[in-house]
Amino acid sequence: AAGVARTAGGELAVQGLPVSELAKEFGTPLFVLDENDFRARARGFKQAFDAAFAELCGGVDVYYAGKAFLSTEVARWVTAEGLRLDTCSGGEMAVARVAGVPAENLSLHGNNKSVTEISTAIEAGLGRIVVDSLDELERVAVLARGTGKRANVMLRLTPGVHASTHEFIATAHEDQKFGLSMIPVGGDVSPAAAAVSFALEHEELNLLGLHAHIGSQIFEAEGFALAAQKMLGFLAGIKEIHGVELPELDLGGGYGIAYTEVDTPSAPATLAAAMAKVVGETALELGIAVPRISIEPGRAIAGTSTFTLYEAGVRKSVQVETGDGTLVPRRYVSVDGGMSDNARPVLYDADYTAVLASRVTASEPIISRVVGKHCESGDIVVRDVYLPEDVAAGDLLAVPGTGAYCWALASNYNYLGRPAVVAVRDGAARAIIRRETEADLLARDLGA
Ligand code: LLP
Repeated sequence: AAGVARTAGGELAVQGLPVSELAKEFGTPLFVLDENDFRARARGFKQAFDAAFAELCGGVDVYYAGKAFLSTEVARWVTAEGLRLDTCSGGEMAVARVAGVPAENLSLHGNNKSVTEISTAIEAGLGRIVVDSLDELERVAVLARGTGKRANVMLRLTPGVHASTHEFIATAHEDQKFGLSMIPVGGDVSPAAAAVSFALEHEELNLLGLHAHIGSQIFEAEGFALAAQKMLGFLAGIKEIHGVELPELDLGGGYGIAYTEVDTPSAPATLAAAMAKVVGETALELGIAVPRISIEPGRAIAGTSTFTLYEAGVRKSVQVETGDGTLVPRRYVSVDGGMSDNARPVLYDADYTAVLASRVTASEPIISRVVGKHCESGDIVVRDVYLPEDVAAGDLLAVPGTGAYCWALASNYNYLGRPAVVAVRDGAARAIIRRETEADLLARDLGA
């Protein structure tokens, strides 16, 4: 994050607050979130996309994807920065509503929303329910009729584009659980086209437009641009068949961040400009009005705002055989958390880096593997990183880029309490989520 630097004494500090003080006050493992950085990135997305799309459709609605990391404070920050909020469960909606986010600024995602989740959304007058299947569309219609309110719906389609990092696959990525296929299955009408007809025929459904999400941790604009072209083509088809121009198009989230120095994501302004160019040209070619564009970034707003602060514990060294048969040493450094606060290395083989945060040293950097304290050998935090040879128990290590999908995916594996999240704003730190205690964990055990 922008506010992280070394003090004169060599200790890592956030907006001038040394990590040793944060560890002392809040304990470790600790998620340290630079609120100024988080908010600047939220604002930056809004400004960059608004600027690029101003002439085409008067700006862009940016929905922060709460699944990346959500708390009531976070919901208030994004709202204050002019963003809306994308939720994908009753729980996330509840956080947003407790935070006071207006219902019209919320969207609800999910491939299997419950009756309660859908009813809650309709009753509240949610800005949009992003409908994922024909079954669900029928369910929303029935529930809307029951409440006497119209449901605002978007239809999530699978545009046949799947993107990650530098690559995108432009052929069908149909065989997965999300979205309405644009390719006919069995008959002549695709599930996507059938859903549009159904929505337009049902008064209780207010069909706002279409949605597509093509992947995550994407560095280049090409995949987004191609998906936009396909979606605009579909909108033109709707105009031809039904004589209506749907007013909105959501291009989803997936904007990438740098976890380590090999990652080189494009800046939001670069992506926005490339996307706007394609959207403008395509709409013109097709003879349709440019719909109001929206996007749903999560990771790119939350990810780099946060580092995890761990305390180092035991070390050990082993001989590792390389491909050519030579033996090299590897040192293991254990920390006081692990896969329960960052499941991404285990789940996605994700790479992180780590630095010695509590001090600087002249000791030689040696290849190290940072591991957690869980009862699994796969419990790796950082696979390979050079750390000073004299790293020892009691040192603090910082792992950057843990603001998205880390706390959100945290578990109580091995009965570890989930860590606290501390937000640092204008040089002052406060916990926005407290650490779970053993009492919290035992409180759910009805035999305790
Ligand atoms: N919109 C929809 C419909 C989504 O499914 C997602 C993420 C987003 C927006 C936000 O994507 P972002 O901008 O954060 O990439 N746990 C995985 C990522 C799962 C993404 C799920 N959907 C990870 O840690 O890499």
